[in-house]
Amino acid sequence: MNDPIIFDHPLIQHKVTLLRDKNTGTKEFREIVAEVAMLMCYEATRDLPLREVEIETPMSPARAKVLAGRKLAAVPILRAGLGMVEGILRLSPAAKVGHIGLYRDHETHLPVEYYCKLPSDIDEREVIVLDPMMATGYSAADAISMVKRHGALSINFMCIISSAEGLAHLRKTHPDVHIYCAALDEKMDDNKYIVPGLGDAGDRIFGTK
Ligand code: URA
Repeated sequence: MNDPIIFDHPLIQHKVTLLRDKNTGTKEFREIVAEVAMLMCYEATRDLPLREVEIETPMSPARAKVLAGRKLAAVPILRAGLGMVEGILRLSPAAKVGHIGLYRDHETHLPVEYYCKLPSDIDEREVIVLDPMMATGYSAADAISMVKRHGALSINFMCIISSAEGLAHLRKTHPDVHIYCAALDEKMDDNKYIVPGLGDAGDRIFGTK
């Protein structure tokens, strides 16, 4: 089982606090979600393979390293995950983007699937499934099962805030997946919203409600 990475970097902590603050408006919230995703992507891509090439610097010939060709696929869970895509694309502009549509049934709190469109070469890509909030962990686990059914072999999951329960569920369901969270909160309320959390991430990103 892979140990989850919970970020303790001061820049990320600072930005998560701004996201938690109910006075942070839509424009700023959206920008910060993308920035946090970009900073997390920097860490999540730490083990991408490199190869050596011959180049010429202005001073001399040199052997230097470039990415060995393994490409990314970002897979946001609709709709809040969309807010994180821009941050991934800033670091990896050639990444392909798939989409998974899941909503939470308000009574059962279980995810219901309504959409799935993924890159056809997903089996050759490093996949990053995105959702800013991991509450029960059921949506994340279901989305990851969907990308696995489409052939994905190397999978990462990235969220901004996870509940302790959600993290435990995802680790148990998909022990092979690398998990990245910017912050970990202990509790959920009766509606399975994370407390203190940041509220409804989709509403805050898109200015709905
Ligand atoms: N989804 C959200 O947007 N917020 C939560 O706290 C839980 C799920």
